[in-house]
Amino acid sequence: MGGKPDSDNVQWDSSTVADFYSGETAGWREVLGPGMHYHFGTVDPTRPIDDAEAHFSFAIRQLYPWIPVRSKVLDVGCGWGGPARLLVDERDCSVHGITISKTQASEFAARVPEARVSVMDAQELDLEPVRDDADVAIMLESLTHMPRPDLVLRGLRPHAGRLLIRDHVARGEIGFTNPDWNMRFPSRVEIREQIKEGGFRLEHEEALEISWEVSAAFWLENIRRAFPVFTPDGQFKVLQRLCESIVNHGPPNVDIMMFVAE
Ligand SMILES: C[S@@+](CC[C@H](N)C(=O)[O-])C[C@H]1O[C@@H](n2cnc3c(N)ncnc32)[C@H](O)[C@@H]1O
Repeated sequence: MGGKPDSDNVQWDSSTVADFYSGETAGWREVLGPGMHYHFGTVDPTRPIDDAEAHFSFAIRQLYPWIPVRSKVLDVGCGWGGPARLLVDERDCSVHGITISKTQASEFAARVPEARVSVMDAQELDLEPVRDDADVAIMLESLTHMPRPDLVLRGLRPHAGRLLIRDHVARGEIGFTNPDWNMRFPSRVEIREQIKEGGFRLEHEEALEISWEVSAAFWLENIRRAFPVFTPDGQFKVLQRLCESIVNHGPPNVDIMMFVAE
């Protein structure tokens, strides 16, 4: 996720992001592991440091103080349903997932049949209102994928009582784009401004203790097992490069932060 800081707000099209996540689900399952979380883990102090999957789950459990039991949750950029599965099982939440990828939505529907899932561009949320308003909207490593975060947050405002963002933030003062990932990492000042302009009031922010090397080593090992002979292509190649860089040179020049806004 590193990259050369620049002040250019390089744009990309969300259809590129949809393509990025549209590979065959079986391949993704092998690489991400059975829980199918696609976010870095947060260190669970009660588990061994090399237990990557425990840290993926802990990243979701860490949000529970902000997600009351039986909440209606709108999971914006819901992936394949790893986080939603936990929210249903452990928090008795009713979840509506939104993703730009059809293949993710199919897996989400199979993995979390109790939940609802919509395939749509979250930047058009105001055009297709989520009729069933949410107590909490969560965005886990998804906002930085959206070239117009302002549209997403403004669109969400009428539909969400609380907003939880857990995402990458540039470590320095200048936000930057990583074109390999179709992601833009805002500075802390920038993301606070985005939240405010979306009509939310920031209640809490926190830089998280991320299990960078453990998550990266886990994904890397799974990629090597899934592609024993050929070098992976596309998204898996990008992920492999990132993981190798983290394992060999340490964490990228971003923090992962949680923002809670109402
Ligand atoms: C890194 S994955 C995170 C998935 C999931 N939140 C998790 O933690 O496992 C990013 C997610 O954002 C979704 N996404 C990116 N841009 C989107 C957009 N414009 N509208 C809806 N979903 C989007 C992708 O489809 C993907 O599900």
